Amino acid sequence: MRPFATLLIRNAEQVVTARCGSKPEYAWRAVETLRGAVIACGGDRILAVGPQEEVAARVELTARTVVIDAVGCTVTPGLVDSHAHPVFAGSRLDEFEARLRGSSYEEIARKGGGILSTVRAVRQASEEELLRLALRRLDAFLKAGTTTLEAKSGYGLSLEHEVRLLRVLAKLRELHPIDIVPTFLGAHALPEEYSGRREAYVDAIVAEMLPAVAEEGLAEFCDVFCDEGFFTPLEAERILASASEHGLKAKIHAEQLSRSGGSRVAAKVGAVSADHLDHCTVEDLELLASARVVPVDLPGATFFLNKSRFAPARKMIELGMPLAVATDFNPGSSPIFFLPFAGSLACLKQGLSPAEAMAAITVGGAWALGRQGELGTLEEGKTADIVVWPTPDYRELFYYLGSLRPRWVIKKGRVVHQEE
Ligand code: NIG
Ligand code: FE
Repeated sequence: MRPFATLLIRNAEQVVTARCGSKPEYAWRAVETLRGAVIACGGDRILAVGPQEEVAARVELTARTVVIDAVGCTVTPGLVDSHAHPVFAGSRLDEFEARLRGSSYEEIARKGGGILSTVRAVRQASEEELLRLALRRLDAFLKAGTTTLEAKSGYGLSLEHEVRLLRVLAKLRELHPIDIVPTFLGAHALPEEYSGRREAYVDAIVAEMLPAVAEEGLAEFCDVFCDEGFFTPLEAERILASASEHGLKAKIHAEQLSRSGGSRVAAKVGAVSADHLDHCTVEDLELLASARVVPVDLPGATFFLNKSRFAPARKMIELGMPLAVATDFNPGSSPIFFLPFAGSLACLKQGLSPAEAMAAITVGGAWALGRQGELGTLEEGKTADIVVWPTPDYRELFYYLGSLRPRWVIKKGRVVHQEE
């Protein structure tokens, strides 16, 4: 018997997706643009994608099938944002102004502002307040087409406050249609109370925080901000190795502000991704490629910090790495909800083609989260996370600098956002 379609999307101008099949290979795949293709979903899965007659022969339509008429529209996979810091309180507007007057992000951080100013605000905020603020932000992500979001802690920097942030993430998973992938980032900055006692803080992460986070099952990944003025490669390696003993997979902020040595750590500990990479060298990239570490490009942070050196994204593609582009949404270096805007920057500042940018914000993001078998393409068997855009040509996503908004957002086969 043919399976029942619960949702059918038809008459789209373009259906744009990479292909990676059930056994994705570690290699770059550009997207394909299918014309006149139809997508049928059953429950939370994609049942079939292809020409109308082919799909009609494979699935059963019923009176209850929801039909979306995507006339004049483009259909893409749900966007996968693989690097974000969406749970925080407070405001960094004064710092923004200070930077416009000439202070640098690094100077502000050295004077106790930056990440530490957000930490002070988070420690004073109630859990309800953190949840309320984060829910509003998730709505903004969803309306921009993001259906999966990696989300880091990192603004608590103590056992109590890091766990609180991760519990907020767990609540968000229950309350909001966006899939949240939680990451523990206790090593985001050295908290004030540990000033001059770096080793004691790393000890606390390893001996207290990681076991507690793992015990409560609060995070899938562990991340470290490895950079000058933050954590050293040796500290990062110690934390990520310990995380792995607790069953957490590794991510690392590497070579963002300087060539910090984070790439070598990523390769050594077998991290799933290395993120930022603005200052990495070709040797760093070759090392990452041979260790199969996925590069996550965050051009929004480079842009918002007014820096001129962007990550060598073309080289990553040349090396066959499954490049991800993400927003790095956070209050200090990248207040950007819109993943297509990060894609526009990758096109304009790093020489990606719109097709490469499209793959990087969908299947690339899935690679960076280890979900390439599940998410990021429109293929039979994958999760039915789909966005319908009001444009006949997907290149407008990048052309309009992230201001194009989806007409329909579908998460796990259900319409979760619709714009008239
Ligand atoms: O990814 N690099 C470290 N963390 C963030 C910045 C966080 C902040 O400034 O609050 C980033 O750019
Ligand atoms: Fe970040």
